Amino acid sequence: MCGIIGITSSKPVSSSILHSLKKLEYRGYDSAGIATIDNGIINEIKSLGRVDVLEKNISQINLSGEVGIGHVRWATHGIPSTINAHPHSNENISVVHNGIIENSVILKKSLINKGHKFKSETDTEVIVHLLSEYLKSNELNNAIIKTLNDLDGSFALGIIFKDMPNIIVGARRGSPLAVGYGPNENYLGSDSYALKSMTNKITYLNDGEFCIIKKDEINFYDYMGNKVNKKILQLSTNEQNYEKGEYKHFMAKEINEQPLTIKNCVNEYIDKINNEINLHNFPWKKENIKSIKLIGCGTAFHSCLIGKYWFEELTNIDVDIDIASEFRYRKNRFKEDCLYIFVSQSGETADTYAALDLCKKNKMKTCSIVNVVESSIARDSDFVLPIHCGPEIGVASTKAFLGQMMVIYLLCLKISYLKNNIKKSDYNKKIKNLDLLSEKVKKTIFDENQIQTISNTFSKAKGSMFLGRGFSFPIALEGALKLKELAYIHAEGYPAGEMKHGPLALIEDGMPVVVVAPKDQYYKKTISNMQEVIARGAKVLLVTNKDDDQIVSENIWKKIEIDTVEKDLYPFLTTLPLQQLAYYTALKKGFDIDKPRNLAKSVTVE
Ligand code: M6R
Repeated sequence: MCGIIGITSSKPVSSSILHSLKKLEYRGYDSAGIATIDNGIINEIKSLGRVDVLEKNISQINLSGEVGIGHVRWATHGIPSTINAHPHSNENISVVHNGIIENSVILKKSLINKGHKFKSETDTEVIVHLLSEYLKSNELNNAIIKTLNDLDGSFALGIIFKDMPNIIVGARRGSPLAVGYGPNENYLGSDSYALKSMTNKITYLNDGEFCIIKKDEINFYDYMGNKVNKKILQLSTNEQNYEKGEYKHFMAKEINEQPLTIKNCVNEYIDKINNEINLHNFPWKKENIKSIKLIGCGTAFHSCLIGKYWFEELTNIDVDIDIASEFRYRKNRFKEDCLYIFVSQSGETADTYAALDLCKKNKMKTCSIVNVVESSIARDSDFVLPIHCGPEIGVASTKAFLGQMMVIYLLCLKISYLKNNIKKSDYNKKIKNLDLLSEKVKKTIFDENQIQTISNTFSKAKGSMFLGRGFSFPIALEGALKLKELAYIHAEGYPAGEMKHGPLALIEDGMPVVVVAPKDQYYKKTISNMQEVIARGAKVLLVTNKDDDQIVSENIWKKIEIDTVEKDLYPFLTTLPLQQLAYYTALKKGFDIDKPRNLAKSVTVE
């Protein structure tokens, strides 16, 4: 989603801003822009489309200036267009904004009445005019405080001023904002990833705070204007791999990295000498956790759903799940002895963060399962369990899903053991079984030609269904989500047993239907449901075990065979061919796999 960068330096900043905007491209966007201050003038340049277009446009002029802000925009208010792209400027102020100003219509009306002229359809432009208005009669800090007070909604802001050509103002409510310290220059960024190529010394604004950044000094303030001291964090300098390498797409690379994701999680969390799961510094006593609530969005929510099945299967504590955007606005019954777990790859998803915030305000125990350990969700939860899968750049979540499932599974096993819900021998066996999982995952990532003929058929389909029971139901939901977001094909994930209560009416001759039926306790029931859709003309792609001999195979259009593993572990295998199916179908249709239309990697607006 939208991304912000700001640099104040003693040398020209436009090329570094462009470089950082390229780093932010993974978030998903439709337009980009830069503004710098030079010789007492704000120079603004914006383009529709990729940062490359902006770069080309900038190369035709000389965009100098030692203070500047840049932005990639994901449209919320107003169509994707050059005029709606950020920054938004008048002759005195230029603003970049992530988030949504909910009262922009009312503010705009009153500003127009005062004679302000608007150029764009965005909510952001009100900030430019509001701040200009307050600056007429207030010094900077007061004008900022008054402006921020007037805004409803969420924001991360970067602001530069013609008359104060050496500063950048940053402000945050809801949307994350990082500040970086460099040699004779300082930075503002919507995430640390954008700043990493310039510095590893960063800090974050807390909700309600703002900052004034000069090249050699940064000051932080709370919402009332009181100075705030910040701890500077040193980011790890571990070389993270942000390149595609030999792969056509990040998604292909990330699919292939999944054996490593499993290996990393196993190595991080399992003490092989004592055959024990180590949740270093887990802060709560087992007696104080009587129930679990797992919360996330999209793919992360699907890992929560699988978690529900595992917790029910392996422990006797109550477990519940929720979609963050629903949870945050419901009348929740908060329970002191519940552990609230927030699952998120980015750790910046606005709804998941708001759900966490709500739990914190109600003094609940909070734990996060995240990939980005410097993220807002990780920083603000009581306890963090990282998924150790390295940067995930493709918008479609793949290896993060496996990592999330693995950490949830390990947490579930550990709680089950601590609560005496599992025999020591079974606990040991389940931990041992994880040794082989990485290899099994590797074997389940198929060659292109094994999936291609199947994806050719899917690429021509108007719609499809994904069916499963038990642990395979969330996998069916996830398979359908992948096909929707990448190949733009309508796909429904359904519990196989629910088909005859309505969706069976959708089945028509030749409709491709994916049935996820590994040999677990649900197998026979799912196979019966499969026969019901075949009888109505569906072309079934069955994902099941290699040694599956009980099935009358003439009925089945295609079969994808996986290895036999312990029944808890099938989700780690059955999801893989569905990721590949979506990938090759989108490839066949010629779509932008790493950046699907309308979507963003980091969903920082609600
Ligand atoms: O960063 P998060 O895990 O919190 O993101 C949640 C969803 O936006 C994300 O999983 C989304 O559904 C993916 N694009 C699915 O592939």
